Amino acid sequence: MPVDFRSDTVTKPSKEMRAVMAEAEVGDDVFGDDPTVKKLEQFAADMFGMEAGLYCTSGTQTNQIAINVWTNPGDEVICHEEAHIYRYEGGGIALNSMCSMRFLRGNSGRINPEEIIPNINPDDQHYPVTSLVSIEDTANRGGGVYYDFKDIQRISQICRDKKLPLHLDGARVFNALVETGTNPKEYGAQFDSISICLSKGLGAPVGSVLLGSADFIKKAKRVRKRLGGGMRQVGIIAAGGLYALQNNIERLKEDHRRAKEVAELLESKTWVKEVLPVATNIVVGILEPGVSEFDVVEKVAQHDVLCVPFGNGRIRFTTHLDITDEDLSILKQKLPNEI
Ligand SMILES: Cc1ncc(COP(=O)(O)O)c(C=O)c1O
Repeated sequence: MPVDFRSDTVTKPSKEMRAVMAEAEVGDDVFGDDPTVKKLEQFAADMFGMEAGLYCTSGTQTNQIAINVWTNPGDEVICHEEAHIYRYEGGGIALNSMCSMRFLRGNSGRINPEEIIPNINPDDQHYPVTSLVSIEDTANRGGGVYYDFKDIQRISQICRDKKLPLHLDGARVFNALVETGTNPKEYGAQFDSISICLSKGLGAPVGSVLLGSADFIKKAKRVRKRLGGGMRQVGIIAAGGLYALQNNIERLKEDHRRAKEVAELLESKTWVKEVLPVATNIVVGILEPGVSEFDVVEKVAQHDVLCVPFGNGRIRFTTHLDITDEDLSILKQKLPNEI
């Protein structure tokens, strides 16, 4: 069996999680009858001090629903140029919400608060209406870095002053929260909507939850239905998500410790020029000039080690719930010194 560092989405539900799922009480959730889904939605909302939650199929769906609720066709969304909502959601913003994007350069996948105001369009018929700001914490393309909470507070204040809603793509927000120790309710108060993923570091097989005010979630539910995301006896998978929120957050610190060990190992290889500083569970290696990321991924796979190409001569390793200290030892033995 290869050791799989491709993503924190590759985890399989544990025995304990499966047992909870098998026993879950269910009902038709489109009728509002699924007690387990309701429990998960309220649990997640309470964590961040939000009024309500909506269980959805994926992080792409929660992000796309939020953007659709906050915008009108022809509007513009401000985000980082490497944001997942733009780069990896299949052009969904253009198709689902018919919006243009305004990109900020920022720093390692994070936007700088000072960049926002100059990028809000004036109230003039020539320009699209700026209607939303979205940030990502942790920032995947930035190598799993998290925001300084003071920056989030400044971004939030600017959005409030400018009457712009602020959305969080929090696919890996728990990785950020366990590192910074920020109180989730204080953190949640900075945003108008939050997407959290249960199927990444937390180890659930499926699902994300969109959080916001009761009014926002009512609108979001209509959009989810329109996208074909209304699910029936879905408590059976929601139970795994609830288990993940109740049991698998604090342990993310172990993934962060292991990621630092992976970084040290990569640094020792002749084919790696540099490793980006590790903040959470993502390790990005910059390869020596002339070394192809695709060749590296293929060659290490021949040694039973899986990772992914990450663009511009970089590779990415991600630690997660199913990577143990034993897997790290295997990695140390198997990762070749020469490519
Ligand atoms: C930052 C970020 N946002 C959103 C998503 C989307 O999640 P999903 O794969 O559940 O659609 C991902 C997936 O990896 C992600 O990394």
